[in-house]
Amino acid sequence: MNQPRSAPTLAVVGATGAVGTVMLQILSQHADIWGEIRLIASSRSAGRKLTVRGEEVEVHALAEEAFEGVDIALFDLPDEIAAQWAPIAAAKGAVVVDNSAAFRMDPDVPLVVPEVNPHAVRVRPRGIVATPNCTTLSMIVAVGALHAEFGLRELVVSSYQAVSGVGMAGVEALREQTKLVAGTELGTAPGDVRRAVGEATGPFPEPIALNVLPWVGSPADDGWSSEEMKIRGESRKILDRPDLKVSATCVRVPVVTTHSLAVHARFENEITVQRAYEILSTSPGVVVFDNPAAGEFLTPADVVGTDPTWVGRVRRALDDPCALDFFVCGDNLRKGSALNTAQIAELVAAEWSG
Ligand SMILES: NC(=O)c1ccc[n+]([C@@H]2O[C@H](COP(=O)([O-])OP(=O)(O)OC[C@H]3O[C@@H](n4cnc5c(N)ncnc54)[C@H](OP(=O)(O)O)[C@@H]3O)[C@@H](O)[C@H]2O)c1
Repeated sequence: MNQPRSAPTLAVVGATGAVGTVMLQILSQHADIWGEIRLIASSRSAGRKLTVRGEEVEVHALAEEAFEGVDIALFDLPDEIAAQWAPIAAAKGAVVVDNSAAFRMDPDVPLVVPEVNPHAVRVRPRGIVATPNCTTLSMIVAVGALHAEFGLRELVVSSYQAVSGVGMAGVEALREQTKLVAGTELGTAPGDVRRAVGEATGPFPEPIALNVLPWVGSPADDGWSSEEMKIRGESRKILDRPDLKVSATCVRVPVVTTHSLAVHARFENEITVQRAYEILSTSPGVVVFDNPAAGEFLTPADVVGTDPTWVGRVRRALDDPCALDFFVCGDNLRKGSALNTAQIAELVAAEWSG
């Protein structure tokens, strides 16, 4: 770690991307505890100017010297670039807070959600702290709060994931495909949407406009996807329950930003909906919005751009008094990535003053 100074120097690496863009908004909105904020991206973006804290700041190309004097570096880069550059930044003395999947399951890298396991941030032998995948993050604050009271035994989840989960390219693909199908009668015959969209499916294996895709990530063993394995491995690590039973099915939907999940959580102890409400509604970072009788429902279109994990449709399982079913929505670019990263950076920065 570089020598503490009065206000730590922060680098945002990947500042031009989907997560980086929201990161700059969050840094402009939160209490300004930083000295210099340095912006870094690929050489393609070097010289571009981006606004943070109301000021235009020039983007530097990713290079070893760009980390000179940096105390904390927020990495919002593709996995393979983060894998290569995080150790370099750490060797230059920066604490790296990494948003990619490169280090999440490394036993020497803590995986931190400040509302759930803030203590973990202090032990970081590699100088790297990881922030979880956006889908895990969209539910784990609520799940962690219930786990602390009832003791979690099993999670069965289905996700409804937004296209910005794969970055700017996902948003562009949905917008382009939506233009091709808007105002048509498509969606009534097999393959009609596919023919209209053609080969231009962007980062998705199938058309995403007027469609849902039962696949997120890359192939893992035995028919599972990498995203489903991330939810399992990361939930176990964050909750410190290596034997937790987790079964996830990840689905991509034509939503720009905000992931939703249907969660079936089975606990050690009997639960009541009333106690679950009390826990959830008093947990930092969680908002309960559950009023189906009035015809009011949580939807990603209303949650987008907000910070909390929103919880609704809370029900005790009909056939198991120890299980709860509920629906969560969380903005994948805020709590699902940039906000959690910024919160971790603020925890680390507190060590400077403390
Ligand atoms: N999107 C989400 O919901 C989400 C949630 C959680 C975690 N994450 C993770 O966060 C990371 C960033 O995701 P994103 O969605 O923001 O991706 P993105 O929109 O594609 O942005 C990628 C960023 O990385 C930079 N970059 C790419 N290649 C580079 C290189 N060779 N050298 C230096 N910089 C390079 C880009 O700079 P240029 O603009 O100069 O190319 C850009 O700033 C990924 O690891 C992703 O898995 C994303």
